[in-house]
Amino acid sequence: MTEPMSPAHATFMRDVIAGLQRTPKTLPCKYFYDERGSALFDEICELDAYYPTRTELAIMERHAPALAQHLGPRARIVEFGSGSSVKTQLLLDALVDPVGYVPVDISREHLLATAERLRERYPQLDIQPVVADFTKSFEIPASPEHPASTWVYFPGSTIGNFEHDEARRLLARMASLAGRVGGIVVGVDLDKDRATLELAYDDPAGVTAAFNKNLLVRLRDELGARVDVDAFDHIARYDATRMRIEIFLESRTHQSIALAGHEFALAPGERILTEYSHKYTLPALTDLAAPAGLRLAAHWTDPDSLFAVACFDVDTATED
Ligand code: AVJ
Repeated sequence: MTEPMSPAHATFMRDVIAGLQRTPKTLPCKYFYDERGSALFDEICELDAYYPTRTELAIMERHAPALAQHLGPRARIVEFGSGSSVKTQLLLDALVDPVGYVPVDISREHLLATAERLRERYPQLDIQPVVADFTKSFEIPASPEHPASTWVYFPGSTIGNFEHDEARRLLARMASLAGRVGGIVVGVDLDKDRATLELAYDDPAGVTAAFNKNLLVRLRDELGARVDVDAFDHIARYDATRMRIEIFLESRTHQSIALAGHEFALAPGERILTEYSHKYTLPALTDLAAPAGLRLAAHWTDPDSLFAVACFDVDTATED
């Protein structure tokens, strides 16, 4: 590689080496989403097997008015990840006199494009994008508009990617951003039977397999790794005890990944863990949010209880 390493590139390299040095080997799922990975994820969202996206959208289409009523007039929305502008627009369209929207995303380009689009659609809304990795602590600018309440919107079941301690810490930071009046609105995938879950994460068309293997493509093309992408299988298993889907890249043979002077040997059948997707029940989610002072105020689900949009209020009742 002749080009100098950008800070993002150096962090990617460092995270990959650290993950491959671990036992069992891991690769962080946040690196799925380069341009190709994001396009593959969009394709996953259209699959029959992958129910979460269409189900959450249907819940929002049907219940956004009730949600908006709970959030009240002159609300400010802080969105963690500025992914699907469709869900965001369903929320913003339903709100009465929303005064601010703060999308938080690690990708500056993606964030500014989203902000521009929304500025055209909502000229009255004060839009203040924040470039930040929401898994770390960050600050948001003060609103000039004196919002009546602040709500962190975290759709897409992204919370499922975090282990419970991390998810608890994330919820605590969300609660502190909401301050004294407001709360969080979170989309979560609900626990269900193994067959439905394993099909959703290992679709017959192989899109999820390509999405998973794209991590190895990035190692090869961006980090200069020597890796045989085709010598790995995509595996998705539901761990019912831990209530989570686990996604792996499984080595077909004795092989190694060579990267930046390191050589990572893999035995046949050895797995690299690439993602957790935790599933929740409403009681489990309520327990997870409680230490952050968040109280379940309302929730909406689909007729088959596949997915839920849950609204937690900052609980100030026990203060003062
Ligand atoms: C974007 C984290 C919600 O866990 O369902 C989809 C990612 N991985 N198929 C999920 C994903 C494989 C997705 N989230």
